[in-house]
Amino acid sequence: MSKKEILNKTKAYIRKKMEGEGTGHDWWHIYRVWQTAKKIGREERANMFVVELSALLHDIADHKFHGGDDTAGPKVARGWMEKIEVDPKSVDHVCDIIANMSFNKTFDKHQIFSSAELRVVQDADRLDAIGAIGIARAFAYGGHKQRKLYDPAEKPMKYKSGEEYRKNNVGHTVNHFYEKLLLIKDRMNTKTGKRLARARHKFMERYLSKFFEEWKGER
Ligand code: ADP
Ligand code: NI
Repeated sequence: MSKKEILNKTKAYIRKKMEGEGTGHDWWHIYRVWQTAKKIGREERANMFVVELSALLHDIADHKFHGGDDTAGPKVARGWMEKIEVDPKSVDHVCDIIANMSFNKTFDKHQIFSSAELRVVQDADRLDAIGAIGIARAFAYGGHKQRKLYDPAEKPMKYKSGEEYRKNNVGHTVNHFYEKLLLIKDRMNTKTGKRLARARHKFMERYLSKFFEEWKGER
């Protein structure tokens, strides 16, 4: 199979698998990460086959929905790639990327694996958590978990590790902005990713200041 056919097949497979997922990890999240990864990957001169495959497969089995199992994603992705006969070197690379993508990995200073392609796809995934789309996803996720939009009595937490973040990430949705979304711009990897993140970050700051004005009935 040509690389183009592999990507087309993978796209169709993921689209079918993730359609109707209600927690912000649906097909359209994958689609956006894929588009953004292509844009960043081209500017950063990455291996585009690995970038595109990783973007398409990165949320194939999220740890949150597999009892905290971090290895589920790479396993399922490997099964698929072997089935359609992706070359072994790319399979290994894509699996390393998927295993090391998640936000909570950024707390742990000595990330075990890194590559230009990981940096690209990780940036694309993070960009989808901020800006206009990020705001929509955060409130959609909060609704899914039946959380409050906001509660002035509950202040945001400062997490020191990925473990701590995972366990305590339960508050109202506005806290999520302070605990994660507003930290993302300083954790971007690539030049292109940083540029895109700055604009999306500014938009979230404007959004939050309006939110608090309206909360107090000031405007
Ligand atoms: P990652 O896989 O990078 O760790 P998540 O799966 O935690 O990211 O997040 C997926 C989406 O759900 C993101 O848009 C994120 O902002 C949102 N999300 C995660 N936790 C919360 C939360 N506590 N409140 C609101 N949105 C959340
Ligand atoms: Ni994702």
